[in-house]
Amino acid sequence: MRSLTVDVIKQAFLQTPAEKLHKKLYAAICNCILEGSLRPAARMPPTRDLANELSLSRNTVLRVYEQLQAEGYISTRTSSGTFVTESVLDNLNTQAARTVPATVPEDRASLSLRCLELLENASASPAQWGDFIPGVPDVESFPHRTFKKIYDRVARRPNPEYLTYDAASGLEELKSALSDYLRTARGVKCTTDQILITEGIHQALDLVTRTLCDPGDNAWIEEPGYWGIKNILRMNAVNISALDVDDQGLMPQANADEKPKLIFVTPSHQYPLGSVMSLPRRQLLLSQAREFQSWIVEDDYDSEFRFSGQPIPSLQGLEENSPVIYIGTFSKTLYPALRLGYVVLPNVLAAPLKKVHNELYRSGHQVIQAALAEFIREGYYAAHIRKMRQLYSKRRNQLVELIKRHLGEEYLGYYNSNAGLHLIIQLPAAADDIHIAKLANVEGILVRPLSRYYFNAQKSKGLLVGFASVQDDNMLPSFLRLVKTIKYKAY
Ligand SMILES: Cc1ncc(COP(=O)(O)O)c(C=O)c1O
Repeated sequence: MRSLTVDVIKQAFLQTPAEKLHKKLYAAICNCILEGSLRPAARMPPTRDLANELSLSRNTVLRVYEQLQAEGYISTRTSSGTFVTESVLDNLNTQAARTVPATVPEDRASLSLRCLELLENASASPAQWGDFIPGVPDVESFPHRTFKKIYDRVARRPNPEYLTYDAASGLEELKSALSDYLRTARGVKCTTDQILITEGIHQALDLVTRTLCDPGDNAWIEEPGYWGIKNILRMNAVNISALDVDDQGLMPQANADEKPKLIFVTPSHQYPLGSVMSLPRRQLLLSQAREFQSWIVEDDYDSEFRFSGQPIPSLQGLEENSPVIYIGTFSKTLYPALRLGYVVLPNVLAAPLKKVHNELYRSGHQVIQAALAEFIREGYYAAHIRKMRQLYSKRRNQLVELIKRHLGEEYLGYYNSNAGLHLIIQLPAAADDIHIAKLANVEGILVRPLSRYYFNAQKSKGLLVGFASVQDDNMLPSFLRLVKTIKYKAY
């Protein structure tokens, strides 16, 4: 006997537009079930009957039934036939509830308090390339051809392990090249096993915070200091004590109410003011860290660029087994978009932090790491740093001369040391550095206001002016526009 359901499905089938027959039949049956013309528990027509009625192959109908069954629309009872699933609409409703529509109203976004706090303090600049941008190297001087040649060689026949998840905390070749480099160039005491490759310092700061602090713990940061660390600490619910810096770097507190779990410092070149941490201050900090059982996190972000005097060795290497986690990056020596950095972990932390890193971030980029290892081993890395050191030194001198000539010596920040990728133009206390920076940014001059780097009320006003990436032809005209903005803005 011809079943009524065949007619229902046939009608729907004829009205359903779709090029492929199996898609058309699938859509027709789904519609019938969803709009109720095929009710829960209704018997489905035998596949042979339906195929004959619709002039389809039986295989096509079987395939569609299989799909509907897999998705829970229909189910088969052994020796009695195929039926529309009794709870089909409940199932579909819960499925729909699970796939929450993308259009959650804004007032229901339910962001965490930590997230709201971070959004309120978001500091990453929306523009990342323009004259006088601080912290960005001259990416146009990168030896792209040389690097591409090495990269192409590696990528032509990559080791299969380069193409899967990285489970070794970075490529062995890169870690080994780095440990040699860090021992000689930065005086870091390390073996390859202590090195962990990260996606830059930013990720490394997040990793150490998450692994070494619990919510409610305390951390010391520099005041003023790197904005990124504040957001990471906020997001991990760690209390922040922002300690002043002077011409010798961070001033530790002898009688801290709350002992810090972590102490974040930039000893080689205080960020952003520029002082170098003196030897007595380093020794004091190390002894306090031991007393408090804290870890010092040494952010050595731009130490390769020191333009006079001796290079300043790392704090980590000052003592055997120092309580220091050393962090570095290729963002300043090569370019930020590489997103490659490294951590030198004290032995006791190496295994757990590598494991956590692997669990949290699922790293990769082994092909580029292999190319970078070769780039370092063949001496191109050191040569590029030497070349950039000369270029940045020249640009820094030009900028200093321009500041003296067009603004006056008093505008040179007191702690500016002859190093790094930026310097500070000091502004009078009454100046609104945020507003001045905004006006300059509109003109394409990407200086940043010093006020943004303070955690508590700012003590000093100024502008961070990057000299590394300004092309020679732009230096004077862009600087004169900046001077105009500074002088125009009355304070
Ligand atoms: C002091 C300091 N630390 C860390 C970073 C971030 O480095 P990375 O690009 O490796 O995340 C920056 C970037 O400007 C910085 O200025």
